[in-house]
Amino acid sequence: MKNSRRQFVKNSALLIPAVRYVNLPAKEGSGKPVVVSTWDSGVIANAAAWPVLLDQGRAIDAVEQAGIAIENDINCCVGLGGNPDRDGYVTLDACIMDDQANCGSVAFLERIKHPVSVARKVMEETPHVMLVGIGAQQFAVEQGFPLEPQTLSPEAEKAYKKWLLDANYEPVINIERTQSKKGKGPYAPARFDDGSFNHDTMGTIALDGGGALSGMCTTSGMGFKMRGRVGDSPIIGSGLFVDNEVGAAVATGQGEEVIRVSGCHLVVELMRNGRTPQEACEQAVERIIKRDREKARSFQVAFIALGKNGSIGAFAVQKGFNYTISNGEIEGQVVDAKSFFG
Ligand code: GLY
Repeated sequence: MKNSRRQFVKNSALLIPAVRYVNLPAKEGSGKPVVVSTWDSGVIANAAAWPVLLDQGRAIDAVEQAGIAIENDINCCVGLGGNPDRDGYVTLDACIMDDQANCGSVAFLERIKHPVSVARKVMEETPHVMLVGIGAQQFAVEQGFPLEPQTLSPEAEKAYKKWLLDANYEPVINIERTQSKKGKGPYAPARFDDGSFNHDTMGTIALDGGGALSGMCTTSGMGFKMRGRVGDSPIIGSGLFVDNEVGAAVATGQGEEVIRVSGCHLVVELMRNGRTPQEACEQAVERIIKRDREKARSFQVAFIALGKNGSIGAFAVQKGFNYTISNGEIEGQVVDAKSFFG
């Protein structure tokens, strides 16, 4: 079975040469490296990415290192330490994209510690862009990734038990519309006591010294989601997009709302049409809010963007989103993003 699957992948690679991974050396350039990550946990991500860029490494290697570092952090809301779905299983989504539009993605992946690296293997070792579920897990194991035990981190287990008590737990379609006691309205994720939103997604975008842009996004998805639910994070164009002529963008927050507008592709296209990264993030958020302003009061979405010239933008629906910058002048600096709703 395993062998025939390998043979299939091999054959597919021969049949579809146009989508094979393209590995071009980074172009010579005098640009200064920049790395930007979502949230203050971006300090951990940037600390892993920055040495790669300083060492004249490629942006794609830098963003993968950022993803690995954050997936290693059991206290972060991504990776196997994240919150489980409503049935108690942690399911992971991730994607990665380079300056040549090579991209790879995994979704609904269980028991694998580094989905970002599996996504990179999908990009480099298969003719496909996206693998999901048991197929993604099987591919990961074939690529040498260990199958981890199906357990919850102590924090996630505590949160899950609490959620089971608080929430009206009925695993039926649209149960996610049930109001949690912690949040208001449909799709309300957990909030911190100060009113800011919890988060579950880490994204990093980087520009290397050779002028190449790359990005990655990794998440355990919305806590206590329906089993099988996949958000924006593994979807190229929604949770992440890189166009080396223009810029890169990555999203965090309520994935369904990002998907509806192909969020990160929208941000990059706005930049192509002359908007700065900041203006592009603002207009993409406004597009989401315009659809249903009242509903938008109950969820968080945020974008960060990076232009070819190293300029940075960020904007969120709600207050409470921050991001982390390293660019040679500042290293691992956390900045509060502006938001639509004060
Ligand atoms: N942005 C992560 C998710 O909605 O799954």
